[in-house]
Amino acid sequence: MDRGNQSVVSEFILWGLSQSQSVQALLFVVFLTLYLFIVFGNTVIMVLITTDRHLHSPMYFLLANLSFIDTCLSSNTTPKMISDFLKENKTISFSVCMSQIFFAHCIAGGEMMLLVAMAYDRYVAICKPLHYFTIMNLRRCSGLVLVSWTTGFIHAMSHLLVIVELPFCGPKEIDSFFCDMPLVIKLACMDSHDLDILMNADCGVVAIACFILLLISYTCIIITIRQSTKAGASKALSTCSAHITVVMIFFVPCLFIYVCPLNIIWLDKFLAVFYSVFTPLLNPTIYTMRNKEMKNAMKRFISNHLGPKGNL
Ligand SMILES: *[C@@H]1O[C@H](CO)[C@@H](O)[C@H](O)[C@H]1NC(C)=O
Repeated sequence: MDRGNQSVVSEFILWGLSQSQSVQALLFVVFLTLYLFIVFGNTVIMVLITTDRHLHSPMYFLLANLSFIDTCLSSNTTPKMISDFLKENKTISFSVCMSQIFFAHCIAGGEMMLLVAMAYDRYVAICKPLHYFTIMNLRRCSGLVLVSWTTGFIHAMSHLLVIVELPFCGPKEIDSFFCDMPLVIKLACMDSHDLDILMNADCGVVAIACFILLLISYTCIIITIRQSTKAGASKALSTCSAHITVVMIFFVPCLFIYVCPLNIIWLDKFLAVFYSVFTPLLNPTIYTMRNKEMKNAMKRFISNHLGPKGNL
């Protein structure tokens, strides 16, 4: 890639989460464990949903896709962070840095749209139950997944094209554990204030648009639930409260990083960790622990594949 002769920076230096060696050793163990849980938990969800015929419905297909996106989201930054805990010099090459920015936005954009798709799916199931199978067929479902990824891709591409062209000529220290867009823009040798605002506003528009769509569908759902019978209502409520929890966990950190940045360094780092480690970790927990069908599928899987052979 030819970036002209203005840019002389070929790598950036990450500060990571801590300077202290013993704290880093501890964090290494903690985050390695969490990351293994993320990969394991989300893989279990994907395997259960693809192999168990009881779970072949749009809601679970979307959930499997969410697990996939969560694994990608975490894998974009966490392995690098973990291996950096053991390194004295935490450098990141220009191209890896750009790819982190690209994938962070592509995946996060995709995840937001997927959460909207999941909310829409629940809206149809609860508010238009008689038409559910005609509205949410497999084609529509795949279409929603495709739209999510495409939105993420276009959103991320628009950022990448701007950032790659920025003149980086000197400062190269990033006070974070990955290349986060606002921090990288600040390193450009130009007055980047307006650009920073513009890029954050772009993320903000995407996030707020998704957030409003989510609010609308959950409001409709809650209104419908309140008018319906008790038995059906409690099941619908438990599904929706899981969704709403996930939405909150995902959107609140995003809003504070991009839409109204607080610029408090420790808080920004905390939110970035929260968003790249805890969100992908909580999704499998929230969905599998609270969902009876998932628990049953797990039991069936265990007794089919791992249980004692030859029992009647
Ligand atoms: C994502 O959703 C599509 C369409 O509904 C489905 O066919 C596919 O298996 C899902 N992907 C994963 C990883 O489960």
